[in-house]
Amino acid sequence: MKHKINLNVNGEKHSIEVESHHTLLYAIREILHLTGTKKGCGEGECGACTVIMDGVPVRSCLVLAVEADGKDITTIEGIAKDGKLTKVQEAFIEAGAIQCGFCTPGFIVAIEALLKKKKNPKRSEIIEALGGHLCRCTGYEAILKAIEKISK
Ligand code: FES
Ligand code: FES
Repeated sequence: MKHKINLNVNGEKHSIEVESHHTLLYAIREILHLTGTKKGCGEGECGACTVIMDGVPVRSCLVLAVEADGKDITTIEGIAKDGKLTKVQEAFIEAGAIQCGFCTPGFIVAIEALLKKKKNPKRSEIIEALGGHLCRCTGYEAILKAIEKISK
């Protein structure tokens, strides 16, 4: 069954049609063609599909598109402003916290959401915010260092 939903994605309003079973991830990638949000496991285990929905990081593979009707969504494409990388993005580059980059949009989006809530999170809070974000390449230490550097 088709549903018409409205999404405000990265400050742009979209009116789209989705099926009942479509996920927010599907809507973002396949309908809006914002492919920065990655599909890893597709079942809530890896964090690669994380976006911010009404200020809260969510795994978009676990949210039905119809549940996101009327919500404000920020994807990785909406993080940098006017082509200028954020401090988080720059810190990831400087710390070498990116290798293949597949997990990176999910990490960045989750950290941006954390730093909006709390400017100087403790290491334990950073670790908690990143719980369940999997990275197969960097080993996490470079990622933590990057975040700690800017949150000091
Ligand atoms: S693709 Fe959503 S958590 Fe892995
Ligand atoms: S940089 Fe490759 S999975 Fe994280």
